Amino acid sequence: MIGVLDRLARPFLRALDPEDAHGLAIKMLKFAPLPPTARDDPRLGLRVFGLNFPNPIGMAAGFDKNAEVPDALLRLGFGFVEVGTITPEPQPGNPRPRLFRLDADHGVINRLGFNSQGADAALRRLAARAGAGGIVGINVGANKDSADRVADYVRLIERFAAVASYVTVNISSPNTPGLRDLQQAAVLDDLLARVVDARERVSPRSGPTPVLLKIAPDLVLGDLDDVVGIARARRVDGMIVGNTTVTRPPTLRETTTVKEAGGLSGRPLYGLANRMLAETYVRVEEAFPLIGAGGIDSGASALGKIRAGASLIQLYSSLVFRGIGLIGEIKRTLLAALERDGLSNLKDYIGADAAAVTAETWPD
Ligand SMILES: Cc1cc2nc3c(=O)[nH]c(=O)nc-3n(C[C@H](O)[C@H](O)[C@H](O)COP(=O)(O)O)c2cc1C
Repeated sequence: MIGVLDRLARPFLRALDPEDAHGLAIKMLKFAPLPPTARDDPRLGLRVFGLNFPNPIGMAAGFDKNAEVPDALLRLGFGFVEVGTITPEPQPGNPRPRLFRLDADHGVINRLGFNSQGADAALRRLAARAGAGGIVGINVGANKDSADRVADYVRLIERFAAVASYVTVNISSPNTPGLRDLQQAAVLDDLLARVVDARERVSPRSGPTPVLLKIAPDLVLGDLDDVVGIARARRVDGMIVGNTTVTRPPTLRETTTVKEAGGLSGRPLYGLANRMLAETYVRVEEAFPLIGAGGIDSGASALGKIRAGASLIQLYSSLVFRGIGLIGEIKRTLLAALERDGLSNLKDYIGADAAAVTAETWPD
């Protein structure tokens, strides 16, 4: 039934302005009577960050920014859902249009700029589903006009730790001016010290909520050395690699839309995101697990992401082009690989190609 709905809705959604289509997709998920998903094959299950994931495929941040439909997304077959980015106070984001499809490239450019209903609205919804089960991570960010951005993250961790399976500190959106400067060593060290401290402070009543750091794929390798070193020293629980890119690969076929300012995601991001994931994996030395995101649009690209170093994967843009049938396709591909290789779970694939990926020529 989900497949039928998806096949009927997609051509219609693709004909709309991208942001209107997104709004409608959220409404459909809110009201569609989705049946519970079938239990996943246990060979797809993984224990990561102390949590039991039924499968490694996550909905990436940015689709459900205000925590309106996490349970519907879980019912579509995702193993986990990351809601957000949520900012402390409501803010409108950038003026429209601010979301663009690159049809010929299966890519997306967005400069939404953290449009958020704010922490109160999201917290109300998440508190109402608190006993519902399923892994729901919460991605947090600073308000554009905040006088103290680090304090924004601390406040959000304190408020959301109790309802979050994990919290992601997002310092890698290209659409809030200056946000990515939080990736600079001295600032990042202070930020991570304070967010981990906030998590410790609230843990007696909120539990040991894992804290993850989401980085940009555009860091130069010298800066990645610093970021990983600080993340390890401050004992974060994991990293997400990564967010959208401000670069524009020369291979893009679209010529007009590609000039729009914002972060590029989807298929054209895959090579760069995979390289940065592998570069991160070899630096982390298994001190903590990684989530890989960027350009996954098939079973093979999902397995490639795991082999480059991801314990878990996330996707967003390809749903626009491939629809939710992609989730089942990825699961089938992963299971077929396990059968072929005589393995009983995905663990042996994680990072198997990381060193080889870092030895390739730098991707376009
Ligand atoms: C429209 C759109 C909005 C996004 N919003 C957020 C966001 O609010 N916070 C965040 O951390 N990442 C956000 N992202 C980035 C995604 O979570 C993901 O890291 C990136 O798109 C790469 O994955 P993909 O190629 O599968 O889309 C957004 C991406 C898109 C396309």
